[in-house]
Amino acid sequence: MLEIRGARRIFTTPEGGKVTALDRVDLNVDENEFVTLLGPSGCGKTTLLRAISGFEMLDGGTVRLEGADLSKLAPFRRPINTVFQSYALFGHMSVARNVGYALEVRGVDRAARERKVSDALETVGLSDMGSRRPSQLSGGQRQRVALARAIIAEPRLLLLDEPLSALDRNLRQQMQLELKALQARLGIAFIFVTHDQEEALTMSDRVVVMREGRIEQIGTPREIYRHPRNRFVTEFIGETNIFALTVDRIEGDLARARTAEGTCLSLPAAGRSRGEAVTAVLRPESLHPGAEGIAGTVMRSVYLGSDLVIFVRPEAGGAEIRVTTRDGADAPMTGDAINLAYDPAVIHILEDR
Ligand SMILES: Nc1ncnc2c1ncn2[C@@H]1O[C@H](COP(=O)(O)OP(=O)(O)OP(=O)(O)O)[C@@H](O)[C@H]1O
Ligand SMILES: [Mg+2]
Repeated sequence: MLEIRGARRIFTTPEGGKVTALDRVDLNVDENEFVTLLGPSGCGKTTLLRAISGFEMLDGGTVRLEGADLSKLAPFRRPINTVFQSYALFGHMSVARNVGYALEVRGVDRAARERKVSDALETVGLSDMGSRRPSQLSGGQRQRVALARAIIAEPRLLLLDEPLSALDRNLRQQMQLELKALQARLGIAFIFVTHDQEEALTMSDRVVVMREGRIEQIGTPREIYRHPRNRFVTEFIGETNIFALTVDRIEGDLARARTAEGTCLSLPAAGRSRGEAVTAVLRPESLHPGAEGIAGTVMRSVYLGSDLVIFVRPEAGGAEIRVTTRDGADAPMTGDAINLAYDPAVIHILEDR
């Protein structure tokens, strides 16, 4: 439905320097899809949204919506709406008038407007709050007003720029589920921006990982988590263990590989060859205390409620290994000698080191 090809945007700073905010970005968004742009501050997420909404011009490339070139369409004529982090509500207007304002400006008659406002408020669960002012609402309720205002004109595509970042953790998690449900109910495509990886994994059909104006990887949350393409995506998508290894030998289905310090790991042999250098990813939840595996000592632990994160120094030396286990009476303690067992099949080899 949305097709972005070769999008480029280069800003000139007041000092005359150049910032490449978007560097040949290609992205397709399907009808009804929930796509999340994920990446560190300054990687170009907002610039990409602004290029789609028409508030930012591109220096190269095209944006098409249902086949039509959007560059010829003024921002307010595009069937696209945006929800901003700051809500940007009018403080002197009632909630209902805030929500219906776009229709008012377009000259939609009062009866039709009131009907749509009441539908939109119902959709976001604020039916009885239409006469309040934004200042008389909680942060989560204000965010819902901003949503109602964005969906009232029935856009084909909704852009959401970190809409939940001002909310506390509990409310944010509740709103994540609500937004996902709302998107399914409305049947329109959402492009959602966040720099919170957990939020991206929870909500999205597909995640687009960005870095310095470029797309590093696009995939389902599971693909991105289990099969990150490179070190940047691996590290951005969650705490993990990365091992630089050299393959020593192949034994049947397994390849034996070693770190520079001498820690040995077993990997699936498929595609590996002797002497090859590989970068392997082993997630903290894929390791558990066992009878054999990587030998080491528990250096410290962090209590997280039901889970416990322990940091293990390998006997052979090298970086501490992070392990997530359940807390309980038999949980490993600082100073314990431990073996970290794992299933070699869960080791992921980075295709691009
Ligand atoms: N008008 C501008 N002039 C110069 N540089 C700009 C301008 N707007 C954005 N930039 C730069 O372009 C890059 C991308 O900015 P953008 O706002 O798209 O990042 P972002 O991914 O949304 O970051 P954040 O997570 O902090 O919101 C940044 O390096 C930023 O400093
Ligand atoms: Mg931004």
